[in-house]
Amino acid sequence: MLHIIMENLIIDNWNRVDAISFYTYQSIHNPLVYSKQHSMWVANSYACCKSILSSEYARVPRPGIPESGTLNEEALLMLNNLARISNGDQHYHARMAVRLLYDCIKAVSIGPIMDSLLATVNNHAEFDWVAVIGKQLPVVSILKGLSFSDEDCGWVVKNMPALIKIMLPQKTKQDIEDINEVIPRYYQLSSRYIHKHTITDQLLKCDATISRSEASGLLICNLLGLFIQSYDACRALLTIAATTLARLKTERVSIKADNAFFQKLIDELLRIDPPVHNTRRIASHDLQVDDKVIKEGDAILVVLGAANMDYMVFDSPERFDIERGNNSAHLTFGLGGHACIAKHFCRDMAVQTSRYIVDRFGEINIHQQNISYESQLNVKMAKRLMVGL
Ligand code: HEM
Repeated sequence: MLHIIMENLIIDNWNRVDAISFYTYQSIHNPLVYSKQHSMWVANSYACCKSILSSEYARVPRPGIPESGTLNEEALLMLNNLARISNGDQHYHARMAVRLLYDCIKAVSIGPIMDSLLATVNNHAEFDWVAVIGKQLPVVSILKGLSFSDEDCGWVVKNMPALIKIMLPQKTKQDIEDINEVIPRYYQLSSRYIHKHTITDQLLKCDATISRSEASGLLICNLLGLFIQSYDACRALLTIAATTLARLKTERVSIKADNAFFQKLIDELLRIDPPVHNTRRIASHDLQVDDKVIKEGDAILVVLGAANMDYMVFDSPERFDIERGNNSAHLTFGLGGHACIAKHFCRDMAVQTSRYIVDRFGEINIHQQNISYESQLNVKMAKRLMVGL
């Protein structure tokens, strides 16, 4: 299997892949390489990934916008306003909106949310962790942290599978129908929320170059961005945390009931088994990286997962070692102008969730031999994970 993917230069299927060995090899032998098969550069070493992510000449690509007239007005507004997929001035304004929104999220205690999610499960001895916890806990925590009503919370959580379709690089006719149905309702719901708060005034105070309606548009759209990021990437992190807790138990590793232990555990997990594996860029000028020139217009895959396995930065990178000292130097949350704004939120959620499991149930058992993954390649998301508590 390793032999096949190495020829491919990138992982193009999560099932039965030994990502740790693959990335360790790639970060040493292919720090920056052009893949003819995929018509793009692939950056694997820590230094090359860092240099590309820090460059003002590496722009984020935008998802495909279907033919005019097919997406409705609110959906198009989302695509034009989301920080994650914008560049230049547009990104500057959007990122400011994201920061303000993020600062409004009050810390919520995971315990009561976990209690109520687990109360919906008939049998704790066997249930799907991805559906019950992964797809709900992060989004509910943000909604509760922003004081959304239970009814609005319920609507957002239920409709996340349709709302995230806005980010699909290519959208089918069915995707477009789903997007057009849910986005206007989301828009209404979140604009009610945004208009109740002083956050639009705060954004206008920080950024006097935009109008009031542009400011509230940015906030409404980027609030959805927060839900999308938490639905995908945090789900993946919580699944990895659950499988690791189960593995440590079977390997009889002693689990200390203190936050410092769990923080080190989650940092090492984020490095060695990252939820987000790569991100993309397009060179907007010729770009000198290492000893190569990436030409203007070339596409680049920045493989964060491989950078995390670079032996120049992490000693014996393939070894799972929560005491290595620099494990939080991983690039899992990106770097530079587009770096994730929520890394503390995510780390804290994974720490609290792991502690909740250990304190309340002692252990988590995995009831599945093989895990199969969604076809999405930037985030490694299990389709389901049958567990018992
Ligand atoms: C473990 C979970 C998460 C991981 C590993 C992760 C990772 C990342 C990465 C790698 C990027 C940078 C992408 C790039 O440079 O192209 C990013 C961007 C971003 N993330 Fe996260 N993320 C996670 C969860 C979240 C959550 C929960 C939120 C919101 C509450 C969030 C909000 C954002 C936003 C808004 C951006 C775009 C920033 C910008 O473009 O200026 N992320 N994330």
